[in-house]
Amino acid sequence: MPRFPEYRPRRMRRTAALRALMQETRLDPAQLIWPLFVRPGSGVREPVGSMPGVFQTSVDECVKDAERAQALGVGGVILFGIPSHKDATGSSAWDDDGPVQQAVRALKAANTRLLVITDVCMCEYTDHGHCGLLHDGEVDNDASLELLAREALSHARAGADIVAPSDMMDGRVRAIREALDGEGFDHTPILSYAAKYASGYYGPFREAAESTPKSGDRRGYQMDAPNSDEAMREVWLDIDEGADLVMVKPAGPYLDIIRRVKTETGYPTGAYQVSGEFAMIKAAAERGWIDGERVMMESLMGIRRAGADFILTYFAIEAAQALG
Ligand code: PBG
Ligand code: ZN
Repeated sequence: MPRFPEYRPRRMRRTAALRALMQETRLDPAQLIWPLFVRPGSGVREPVGSMPGVFQTSVDECVKDAERAQALGVGGVILFGIPSHKDATGSSAWDDDGPVQQAVRALKAANTRLLVITDVCMCEYTDHGHCGLLHDGEVDNDASLELLAREALSHARAGADIVAPSDMMDGRVRAIREALDGEGFDHTPILSYAAKYASGYYGPFREAAESTPKSGDRRGYQMDAPNSDEAMREVWLDIDEGADLVMVKPAGPYLDIIRRVKTETGYPTGAYQVSGEFAMIKAAAERGWIDGERVMMESLMGIRRAGADFILTYFAIEAAQALG
């Protein structure tokens, strides 16, 4: 290691051009995935109170948003559905005419080039708001697998480029892989929310997706915040079951997990900068307490630097504009 005064790190920080040469981590709009919330109807664009700039939209408006994202070079969108009907088994989840399935078909018909990813989970479709089937107040893991497989298959049939299970049931990647392969969708990749933590940062999302559990919480299936080795076991299990891409969620408070997953598996690693991370930056910026654009870029760069190959973020559009 060279020493002062021979080595002066500041020498390479003096001008913007020198700093650009030194830049170790880059962020490209193609690495960003924009979450969208789709509901029935047409011409619908309902703002989500806790997430400035985020809307629940009908399919037609969703196509407009996706086209905007595409024009900015954003890599893809991930779709969440708000169905018109919820029941105990979440049966609308595999309705081929549900909002997500219709949106996928509309995006494909519009010849959208960006990736169309679908979130596969039951909590938006069940009347109790849990991510699987409830039996005596507990989520029944194995009984939930079949429902998730049906939902994923319905998304694949609609034309989804990638399906992304976010439920955290054990064995769901294998169940989905087998269901897809059985119907000729062996080419459809699975992006697993492999290490998804039970997090307070999901608050604003549950308003956006109308998916708050009516009773209890998700600690019985999502991971406990203090654990890191367990996250690695979750990731390896999902890889073993056939996951093509793995994800860590939330992102900012779990940068160490992102780094471990990337380094130890070498798999394509995504990170989800969740609703609460977004809302906190927006809220502080609205009060003038931080420079919103600057903190947005710094938060995304930090997630990339930790090892994420791609980032799911509500900032996708704004970040792509800032990078443009
Ligand atoms: C559904 C799901 C959630 C998120 C993505 N998929 C919420 C949850 O598990 O409660 C959170 C996304 C966010 O907060 O932005 N299982
Ligand atoms: Zn869920």
